[in-house]
Amino acid sequence: QSKATISKPLHCLSLLFPRSLANSLPGPTPLPFLGNMFELSQDHLPIYLTRLARQYGNIYRLSCGSTTMVFLNSSELIREALVKKWSDFAGRPHSYTADKVSGGGFSISLGDYSEEWKSHRRMAHGALQRCVAESLHCLIEKQMLNLRQVLLDYNSKPVDLSEDFTVATSNIITMLAFGKSYEKSSVHLQEMHSCLNRIVSLWGSPCISALDSFPLLRKLPNAPFTRLMREVAKRDELIGGHLDELKRKKDSKDFAAPLLQFLQSPEGREPKMTLTDSHIHMTTVDLLIGGTETTAAWLNWTIAFLLHRPEVQTKVYEELNSVLKGQYPRYSDRHRLPYLCAVINEVLRLRPVAPLAVPHRAIRDSSIAGYFIPKNTIVIPNLFGAHHDPEVWPDPYNFKPERFLEGDGRCLRALMPFGGGARLCLGESVAKMEMFLFTGYLLRDFQFLPASTEEPLPDLRGVASVVLKAKPYKVIACPRA
Ligand code: HEM
Repeated sequence: QSKATISKPLHCLSLLFPRSLANSLPGPTPLPFLGNMFELSQDHLPIYLTRLARQYGNIYRLSCGSTTMVFLNSSELIREALVKKWSDFAGRPHSYTADKVSGGGFSISLGDYSEEWKSHRRMAHGALQRCVAESLHCLIEKQMLNLRQVLLDYNSKPVDLSEDFTVATSNIITMLAFGKSYEKSSVHLQEMHSCLNRIVSLWGSPCISALDSFPLLRKLPNAPFTRLMREVAKRDELIGGHLDELKRKKDSKDFAAPLLQFLQSPEGREPKMTLTDSHIHMTTVDLLIGGTETTAAWLNWTIAFLLHRPEVQTKVYEELNSVLKGQYPRYSDRHRLPYLCAVINEVLRLRPVAPLAVPHRAIRDSSIAGYFIPKNTIVIPNLFGAHHDPEVWPDPYNFKPERFLEGDGRCLRALMPFGGGARLCLGESVAKMEMFLFTGYLLRDFQFLPASTEEPLPDLRGVASVVLKAKPYKVIACPRA
């Protein structure tokens, strides 16, 4: 048995006396005052945390100032905490900076677990599901045909497609939320994107996270924090402007914003609360942030992997051709395209775009793997680590879509790119439809080729922040005959 797993006798003992193991979670020795700041400021944190799991086991702790964090590095442990004991671990950490960016606690992604949060999330989920059922397919098809034209206009020139992917994914959300889509060159789109991106990257930066762990620093001037607050104000002004415009149009023929319509007139049981303007505002922010960079980053990773493995691209193309006989796929065709689905899953496994999910908080005393986890402990699911666990995935670092076609479905159970339980990604069904139709359309119409024979193929390590992204690379989108 590897050193990484908790020994059986210890595990059994811990089930009998969980509290007695409270302080015995393994982990690197913290430094006085700083804790494990060194470990937590590593360049590619998901890879580093995964290495620590090989040393300390799939559950270990790290601290930052006075905050202790428990890291879970296998799908079994993540499932135990997030799914089996969902009601113990559905909280979000209370943090000074999260309060500042979450619009007074109205955000779904950063809001803590409460009756009001539950109703808000349920209503947002219901509205999104109605969008998925009624309008999403059509919106994605439209964006794919736009993207097809953009790629044709590049005339087989080597280009970086990341911005085009961002425009396509963002337009799907803006169509749902504001009934509008934008050109790549649109000032509005660029303004909104750079603002949301700056918020995410500033918020993840060490100078700002330090304010959560070391309250004394809040008394000192902090230029990045001042910039963050400026961006939050701009975000609220931009999104508030769109929502005000929609309110004015509410009774006119131009009103076509399905998300807003469904949020304001929920279906089914009488809702326990009415959503206020602040709830609707922050739902829009959550969906724009959650729904743009994630799917776009995944698409960039897919093309990067296919450039490394041209035979996989050929196999997907052959499957599309033989099953669809030249037609574009519909989402209902996914069961007839198993190899395409296996490629989608293998990219999600190797590069889960939200590699450390979003931190959870224990809302009451509980336990994981028999270790006592006191109330308020921060729990971080390392999805990247779980997807590279050698106990579950043979040859975990290799791109092998076939693994999803073999065996008894164990692989699918261990795949958790969207987290799980009460905090399961709200946009999971949107993302799944997007990923399937994007790849189906793009690989039917284009062969993706390396930019040149002299330059190296895209780097596959990537840059890890809140979202795990590929480094910029160029590619040729060559139209299929
Ligand atoms: C949360 C993954 C696309 C909206 C999350 C979480 C993960 C995730 C891991 C955190 C779960 C947790 O806290 O345990 C992904 C991946 C995507 C994707 C891999 C695409 C490939 C989307 C899309 C949307 C979206 C398209 C919106 C339309 C959200 C929201 C949350 C969330 C609002 C917060 C949920 C909550 O706290 O209750 N996502 N996501 N995501 N995602 Fe996604």
